[in-house]
Amino acid sequence: MAILVTGGTGFIGSHTTVELINAGYDVISVDDFSNSKPLVLDRIEEITGKRPTFYELNILDKEALNEVFEKESIEAVIHFAAFKAVGESVAEPLKYYHNNLGGLISVLEVMKAHNVKNIVFSSSATVYGVDNPSPLKEDLPTSATNPYGYTKVMNEQILQDVVTSDDEWAVMLLRYFNPIGAHPSGLIGEDPQGVPNNIMPYITQVAVGKREQLSVFGNDYDTPDGTGVRDYIHVVDLAKGHVAAIAHALKHNGVEKINLGTGHGYSVLDLVHNFEEATGVEVPYEIADRRPGDVATCYADATYAKELLGWETEFGIEEMCRDAWNWQEKNPNGFVEEA
Ligand code: WQD
Repeated sequence: MAILVTGGTGFIGSHTTVELINAGYDVISVDDFSNSKPLVLDRIEEITGKRPTFYELNILDKEALNEVFEKESIEAVIHFAAFKAVGESVAEPLKYYHNNLGGLISVLEVMKAHNVKNIVFSSSATVYGVDNPSPLKEDLPTSATNPYGYTKVMNEQILQDVVTSDDEWAVMLLRYFNPIGAHPSGLIGEDPQGVPNNIMPYITQVAVGKREQLSVFGNDYDTPDGTGVRDYIHVVDLAKGHVAAIAHALKHNGVEKINLGTGHGYSVLDLVHNFEEATGVEVPYEIADRRPGDVATCYADATYAKELLGWETEFGIEEMCRDAWNWQEKNPNGFVEEA
């Protein structure tokens, strides 16, 4: 029996595939390479010694997805495949609703047709909206301030309704905080296309000389140093959280909402200074205007993941910065097919 990973060559999907293989699972990976490269599969094989079975497809193509379920014996799904750029979602809401809602519904319909009723869903702390106080607890009300965030809120609702309709389903809603870093080998990592939206790939592109300086989006927030506070989590810790969630889903039905974070908040300037200390590389920055939609502070109450799954983070901010830099230094232009 195998685990199907949608978006399996993406940043979180590739790191989770490595940890699934390390934990002894067979992995069936599907992706359309809309935000990743085929080279990732070679790197996963280089790290683990095993190559996941791979199908290039768009999850909205139900026929193609159905064929995978016909050919493979799948016992659970981890669903990553989605668009995730907040700003882009404001400019192109229909693209986001079509892909992120339609994609999940397509996956669930094919799963149901094949009587596969275990799913781990890639949700986000963004579902806590802007009004909830940190540390954020799973039972808080959800809301959104942009179409991307609304797709995650609606996806969670769809999945909860599926469980209500059929108690044979096991649904794990994993709410990520801020995943950063890379596999310690430096063979896989975060490879955003164009100008990075998220801070760590922007920092590493400044450090490697691809960008001139970091713009710090506001230093007048109600935080210790005025810059935004976030709960950064090492992507390998996050990946291991998915392995723990899959193990739970294979034994228990029902729906669980789980924060995957460290429970600690670091400001933007904390992150910059920790990066410089961990790598010895300077990161020039300027203070710029606030980014619309940003909250001042967002960090997890991470106790439930430990209680339910026995999972907690192992890596600290120093390893996150060290591994992010190691990936970028080894791959200045991201995943580039060897000439
Ligand atoms: C972190 C901090 C910025 C860039 C987003 C999504 C969330 C999830 C993770 C998908 C903030 C500051 C950033 C820069 C900066 N994505 N910043 N200069 O906004 O917490 O979360 O990514 O699931 O859904 O909302 O992450 O990395 O963009 O920002 O000063 O060039 O860094 O203001 O305080 P964010 P981020």
